[in-house]
Amino acid sequence: MLRSVGRGSASFIVGNWKMNGRRADLATLDAILAQAPRAETVVALCPPAQLLAAFAARAEEGGGHVAIGAQDCSAESDGAFTGELSADMLADAGAACVIVGHSERRARHGETDAVVAAKAAAALRAGLTPIICVGETKAERDAGRAADVVAAQARASAPAEADGASVLLAYEPVWAIGTGAVATLADIEEIHRVARAAFAEGRGGPQAAVLYGGSVKPGNAQEILASGEVDGVLVGGASLKADDFGAIVAGAPAA
Ligand code: PGA
Repeated sequence: MLRSVGRGSASFIVGNWKMNGRRADLATLDAILAQAPRAETVVALCPPAQLLAAFAARAEEGGGHVAIGAQDCSAESDGAFTGELSADMLADAGAACVIVGHSERRARHGETDAVVAAKAAAALRAGLTPIICVGETKAERDAGRAADVVAAQARASAPAEADGASVLLAYEPVWAIGTGAVATLADIEEIHRVARAAFAEGRGGPQAAVLYGGSVKPGNAQEILASGEVDGVLVGGASLKADDFGAIVAGAPAA
């Protein structure tokens, strides 16, 4: 589990390395570990799975102030599922959290909201914090459907047993991922309210923290993080460079 999950408890800075990284990149983790974050900032880094155990061990040695996460998990537990990794295996390797429902997996692997919800449920059972991704495509935004699409995803991609203290939501407009295009602050704030409200339907407990993702860089992170509607950021490309990721962490405002 990540510490302090839930809205208002912390600012979450999560790096997603996607399919990038070799053992030599432990040096990048070391550089990230050398920069101590503020007490109210929760920092997590999600390397590719083959690096997970080594990264988790090194992060622990480095003081435990950077959590290590995975980028996906199976909805199943042990068994005949060739090529898959269960949430419990990821926890055993040292993961504290796992990204589920990233748009690259939804698009390339046909993951539906129901599949994403089952993966998030598996993560919760294994003691991991699921980071549940939602976000509209360019065509959906152009058609004026962004809020409806995200609301539907936030309802259906979170399992019934999730509450605002056990999961993180990440709003990642598909058209902003890896493109340099960033949603306007007004659009981010509107969609974060929509996602949080849709997730809260039928659930008690605290409100969920919502992270923004999509071309977050040192130059725009501070403005995005300063919004009262933004509880953190999910950073792809800029998390691969220790200096850039460190600058985003250093600029994170107090919760
Ligand atoms: P990006 O990726 O920061 O490279 O746009 C974000 C993500 O996909 O999580």
